[in-house]
Amino acid sequence: MTDITDKTIWIVGASSGIGESLALRLMEAGNFVIASARSEDKLNALVQRNPQRISALPVDISKESNADAITQGLQSITDSIDIVIVAAGVVEYEDDLALDAAMYRRVFDVNFFGMINAIAIARPFLEASSHKGYIVGLSSLSMMIGFPRAEAYGASKAAVDYFLHSLMIDLPQRKFDVSVVRPGFVKTPMTSVNDFPMPFLMTADQAADRILKGMEKRKRVIAFPKRLSMMLRLLSWMSCLWYKYLGPKASRG
Ligand SMILES: NC(=O)c1ccc[n+]([C@@H]2O[C@H](COP(=O)([O-])OP(=O)(O)OC[C@H]3O[C@@H](n4cnc5c(N)ncnc54)[C@H](OP(=O)(O)O)[C@@H]3O)[C@@H](O)[C@H]2O)c1
Repeated sequence: MTDITDKTIWIVGASSGIGESLALRLMEAGNFVIASARSEDKLNALVQRNPQRISALPVDISKESNADAITQGLQSITDSIDIVIVAAGVVEYEDDLALDAAMYRRVFDVNFFGMINAIAIARPFLEASSHKGYIVGLSSLSMMIGFPRAEAYGASKAAVDYFLHSLMIDLPQRKFDVSVVRPGFVKTPMTSVNDFPMPFLMTADQAADRILKGMEKRKRVIAFPKRLSMMLRLLSWMSCLWYKYLGPKASRG
């Protein structure tokens, strides 16, 4: 159980996986959660768990043109938000190295531009909070080194990571905290398509617990599991080993 309580929290990407686990835990801890994603049926099922503590706001966060409608939707629920968690994400892999720009745009539209859209929409609601506004964005440990077939996904997460780190500097620090979350492999609908080994795979509930522990301390970077994070850090220092030998081996499966 987390000691984050009595807050109004907007979670974008709450219909499954890590976002759903966070929504349930935060709702159980006495927060009011606004759950967003595209799948209205899944959001409604979430609301049924505790309609007093959770509201559904179906959104497609990838489209900037939806911003006004999303703002109005939020206004119909609340005047202020204390915490926004942006967990919306999609993955597409480079199967035959087609370098199809449309595929890269699809991934960036959700993972990167969706992050910008969500934070831009949330900002006035966070400023209206009587608490210090808190922005939490989902990056990935994959941004630490180049992974095979992850050209689009990894690049989008590296972009998200950089964007959030710049925000830490540019947003007034007395008004906002920002955390970047870098999970390793988590068992969710997103990773169910993966046909490669996923070392130290954890459940969405375990991932949510790690994220909440980091959020309680308002850690700048919440990276887990530690063992994978350390291994990737080592590989990034010894990049020759990864890019010349180990990476190409992984690429060939
Ligand atoms: N699972 C992992 O191993 C892992 C590792 C590192 C980082 N992450 C990151 O963690 C985050 C959560 O991933 P997950 O594993 O929990 O995946 P997931 O279960 O597939 O959840 C992704 C969420 O994003 C929502 N979403 C997708 N497109 C959207 C859009 N256009 N507008 C609004 N919501 C949208 C999905 O809902 P709808 O489809 O209903 O819209 C869903 O709620 C992602 O950012 C992912 O990149 C995951």
